Amino acid sequence: MVIEHHPFPVNDKGHLEIGGLDTVKLAEKYGTPLYVYDVSMIRKNARSFVDTFKKLGVRAKVAYASKAFSSIAMLQVAKQEKLCLDVVSEGELYTALKADFPAESIHLHGNNKSQEEISMAIQNGIGCIVVDNFHDIELIETVSKQLGKKDIDVLMRVTPGVESHTHEYIMTGNEDSKFGFDLQNGQAEEAFKLMQHHEAIHFKGLHCHIGSQIFETEGFKIAADMLFKELAKWKDLYDYIPEVLNLGGGFGIRYTKEDNPLPYNVYVEELIEAVKQHVETLNIPMPEIWIEPGRSIVGNTGITLYTIGSMKNIPGIRKYVSVDGGMTDNIRPALYQAKYEAVIANKATKPITDTVSIAGKSCESGDMLIWDLSVPDIDHGDLLAVFSTGAYSYSMASHYNRIPNAAVVFVENGSDKLVVKRETYKDVVKNDLTYE
Ligand code: LLP
Repeated sequence: MVIEHHPFPVNDKGHLEIGGLDTVKLAEKYGTPLYVYDVSMIRKNARSFVDTFKKLGVRAKVAYASKAFSSIAMLQVAKQEKLCLDVVSEGELYTALKADFPAESIHLHGNNKSQEEISMAIQNGIGCIVVDNFHDIELIETVSKQLGKKDIDVLMRVTPGVESHTHEYIMTGNEDSKFGFDLQNGQAEEAFKLMQHHEAIHFKGLHCHIGSQIFETEGFKIAADMLFKELAKWKDLYDYIPEVLNLGGGFGIRYTKEDNPLPYNVYVEELIEAVKQHVETLNIPMPEIWIEPGRSIVGNTGITLYTIGSMKNIPGIRKYVSVDGGMTDNIRPALYQAKYEAVIANKATKPITDTVSIAGKSCESGDMLIWDLSVPDIDHGDLLAVFSTGAYSYSMASHYNRIPNAAVVFVENGSDKLVVKRETYKDVVKNDLTYE
């Protein structure tokens, strides 16, 4: 038996399995809350992007957006799969370097890069800096002089005036965003003129990212239209031909049965089709295409296991069932009203008899993981498995209420490996100093 809408089987004891392992045993071995990832699914997701570009014969780079889930083990898997890496802070860059990720395959993002970040990136020879604003250009200039480096590979992030909101997209005349250079008001062109013949900079092309958890290709195509409109102008005026076009990430995944993501090859095929048409019209060579999927690489590969504790029944109103984690290990329901599905992992084949709402343990009414979940008869000590928690859960964890961060376990082909240790209370107070 397989859980409906989710790629995980149930064994003959009626327990949910992941990566060939019984979730009940994993919870016993490592404790809860516990993030568990099926690594073979991470590899499969990565390959479906990489292989589609190969099949289409398009030179491409698939950069895993490590903000979705960064840890040394995860970045080692990304490296094994020959992905490139998108980092957006010194901490993400540091983690990548600790994982021995090849520096030349790392791209640095950020709307407020510090001089230290840019310096660390250039010193370590990272592959590309995605320039987000005029301050970035000045910092690259300063740092390159200090370090005596030239021709630093740079992309320019632009805001194409299209925002994608899952099922619909919005065209905005002037993009009101903290990220990137505006195409409409001429700032992108101004930055381009600054960088095209800059000593410190080798300007490789344009980048845009239109949003996250997107289910249609329309928004990407409109963004490509906008980029090519600008590129046509730059070709005419400045004889410019881009080497690289980076179309960002944002490919949607299934959290609940209402979500119907496209297969990843479809996103890529349709994007490439759109780009090819523009390239033909413009009569330029096909640029290398880069994408930056985060959620779509890891999101559906991870689950979170929780132990059920207290229950509160308000007759005629609601039954609250509390678990030993919540907003500290997954802020998404509280922050974005994100919806998740879950099963009682030790009773996955038992008949559904009740509807309950799953509460976290933090002192915050908004700490609710799932409203109105259908469940069998449940008891204290049962195991709850929440699906599709692989992206933006661990990476957005907090210490609210001084709750230690949960552990992360990787499973693959029937073996399990602890890849992030559970924090201890000692870890929680490790930076505290006394005041006596
Ligand atoms: N590239 C850039 C420049 C980005 O800003 C992002 C995400 C990505 C790639 C990866 O996007 P993805 O493929 O993962 O959708 N915390 C939010 C998501 C924030 C996304 C920020 N940028 C959430 O939990 O839904």
